[in-house]
Amino acid sequence: MSVQTQTQQYVMHTYARKPVTLVKGQGAIVYDESGKQYFDFSSGIGVNSLGYSDPEWSLAIAKQSQTLQHTSNLYYTQPMAQLAEILCQRTNYAKVFFGNSGAEANEGAIKLARKYSFDRYGKSAQRYKILTLKDSFHGRTVTTLSATGQDVFHQSFDPFTPGFDYVVANDLADLTSKLDDQVCAVMIEFVQGEGGIHLLDKVYVQTLFELCAAKDILVIADEVQTGIGRTGRLLASEHYQVQPDISTLAKGLGGGLPIGAVLCNEKLADVFQPGDHATTFGGNPVVCAGAQVVLDKLTLQVLESVQQKEQLIRQHLEKMPEVKKIDGIGLMLGIQLESKTAAEVIDACLEEGLIVLSAKEKIRLLPPLTISAEELKQGLAILAKVLAD
Ligand SMILES: Cc1ncc(COP(=O)(O)O)c(C=O)c1O
Repeated sequence: MSVQTQTQQYVMHTYARKPVTLVKGQGAIVYDESGKQYFDFSSGIGVNSLGYSDPEWSLAIAKQSQTLQHTSNLYYTQPMAQLAEILCQRTNYAKVFFGNSGAEANEGAIKLARKYSFDRYGKSAQRYKILTLKDSFHGRTVTTLSATGQDVFHQSFDPFTPGFDYVVANDLADLTSKLDDQVCAVMIEFVQGEGGIHLLDKVYVQTLFELCAAKDILVIADEVQTGIGRTGRLLASEHYQVQPDISTLAKGLGGGLPIGAVLCNEKLADVFQPGDHATTFGGNPVVCAGAQVVLDKLTLQVLESVQQKEQLIRQHLEKMPEVKKIDGIGLMLGIQLESKTAAEVIDACLEEGLIVLSAKEKIRLLPPLTISAEELKQGLAILAKVLAD
């Protein structure tokens, strides 16, 4: 039985998979079972920040798996402690909680915000509401679907977790009208990823932070897709010169192994007490050993190179047919097309040996942060050919 038949027979049909079975990769290139090579401009949806099989990352996880692969969170382990320190120091946060995915990180952030509010103002104040942005995406659990500001996700799984309301991104009047006494937090993506690569305006963000600070309303930044160097800074919040009370991370942090993180400031550092929150695999030593390598490798120089690569991509894209507008920042870019659909471009690229993504009607590019200029140019040449056809 082929891998594809076996998958179709035994794995629930939750993904519209392409008819390609990937077997190995190196850097920004991945190979299918026939040996065909693809430039991967998706990084497994923003996960493989160092590309495929980075030698130091692979070695770190191999070594750790031969030493201590897992313990319960009832004991201390060095890789988790070390990763926590590096992460907090590099992001200016006080403490972190480790989980396994973006949705789980956001669930943790939501719980943390509500617990802060209940501890501080009492449950009877009913200060539990969380505002999120329309077109946001925060995950697939029932609560993070509630947080996701897109009706398309609010269909088949009722009842959803109550206590969420949605505001139009970059609309300060809408925000102001909904910041009532029941709101405990506002949750934002600085650049909406799944929602279609939309950037928040600087003035909007700065005013949102001021309005929230005045009412002790927490700001949660979902940096699951934007974080860990994707936009050319370690966190996208740095572009806005703001420090959210909570930032969530996942995807790129593990470099290819599952991890989620909830970072919080000093005000929230002791809100969670033993028993309030937990997860069996959180802070897994193997994953944390790999994540340390990711952070070690994302030096200031590498982060700056992400910004240079953005310029290189833009210069090439601007000369291509079909490219109407380029949105996004760093290596998180969305291309608005003139007349072709994202689906047809994705399929044609795949045929020619290039993996790209969509974000609503746009083509989305999320190449590995370490991709070389040569690999970028070769992949872009394929895109140019597809768009010209
Ligand atoms: C901004 C954002 N938040 C949350 C998630 C959910 O992450 P995960 O799929 O790891 O649960 C995603 C995934 O695409 C995301 O882009």
